[in-house]
Amino acid sequence: MSDIRLEGVSKRYGPVAAADDVDLAVAQGEFVTILGPSGSGKTTLLSLIAGLNRPTAGRIFIGGRDVTDAPAQERNIGLVFQSYALFPHMTVLENVLFPLGVRKIGGAVARSQALDALKLVRLEGLEDRRPSQLSGGQQQRVALARAIVFKPDILLLDEPLGALDRKLREELQVELKQLQRTLGVTTILVTHDQEEALSLSDRIMVLDKGRTQQVAAPAEAYLKPANRFVAEFLGIANFVGLEDGRTGLVRPERVRIGAIGTAAKTARVVEAIYLGQMVRYHLALENGAAGAPMVAAVPFVGRAFATGERVAVSWEAADIWPV
Ligand SMILES: Nc1ncnc2c1ncn2[C@@H]1O[C@H](COP(=O)(O)OP(=O)(O)OP(=O)(O)O)[C@@H](O)[C@H]1O
Ligand SMILES: [Mg+2]
Repeated sequence: MSDIRLEGVSKRYGPVAAADDVDLAVAQGEFVTILGPSGSGKTTLLSLIAGLNRPTAGRIFIGGRDVTDAPAQERNIGLVFQSYALFPHMTVLENVLFPLGVRKIGGAVARSQALDALKLVRLEGLEDRRPSQLSGGQQQRVALARAIVFKPDILLLDEPLGALDRKLREELQVELKQLQRTLGVTTILVTHDQEEALSLSDRIMVLDKGRTQQVAAPAEAYLKPANRFVAEFLGIANFVGLEDGRTGLVRPERVRIGAIGTAAKTARVVEAIYLGQMVRYHLALENGAAGAPMVAAVPFVGRAFATGERVAVSWEAADIWPV
């Protein structure tokens, strides 16, 4: 049974369709990520599900119940926003107790529930600090604890890690995934970071201008994008002409590079970018589509081809996806 279901959901602001006829079914315990560029309607969709906003058309179901016209407080949803939105004058513990108070849960029961939530996000011992005395990552953990403390049916996360530096973001991504699995809570995450979407989710939903472009498992969307927009949004896409006149897509990791003579196609290295484990080559093809750009990402094995060098390039027919 699906836990969250959107049927033909639209939200218009004058001439702008922030959500345009969106269908989505999220299963119980599933982790779905909504991915799309700025202004594509990600926050709009979350706010409609949360009940902070009403759709112009369509229906929204949670746990099989039509909640389209139900107020937010009847939906039992935990929310985390990009800006932590903690209460600055309250301690960490008071922040986490807050949603319990709203639900008329107090005393020792509330305290033990709040301490449990803080333990889950690894903030034990920091209960008495104020938000200003915490790092960004710690503040976001408080926001998470506050969102899960009342055992929500659904967790909605809007760019929760957006304000953090890369390393901390990657650490928290792992924690978030583990927490979600431990709680088994149905989760929708919003991000514009494609790596985050691909690494965390059971399925991703790609949005553009309020419209669904694709809903699929990460690997499927990455390797078999529904259209050019998805292909380009989910990473670097090499477009190659196919013999039947159509266009195909090859991902950079599927492009092989070798010494001249080892493959029929050749290219000149325009730029070799060392990325640690990988080298990314920006190439200009020489034969066929002369001058056409191509990007190859290959493991760094001690020697890289240099800028200006000529190389042989090849890829498998099976790695081409028509778009
Ligand atoms: N209250 C509003 N009034 C008018 N237009 C709005 C309103 N809220 C959102 N919009 C418009 O709806 C569209 C979608 O906005 P939304 O905030 O959902 O995008 P987003 O995908 O979350 O973007 P970002 O990644 O920048 O947060 C945008 O064109 C935005 O300008
Ligand atoms: Mg947004």
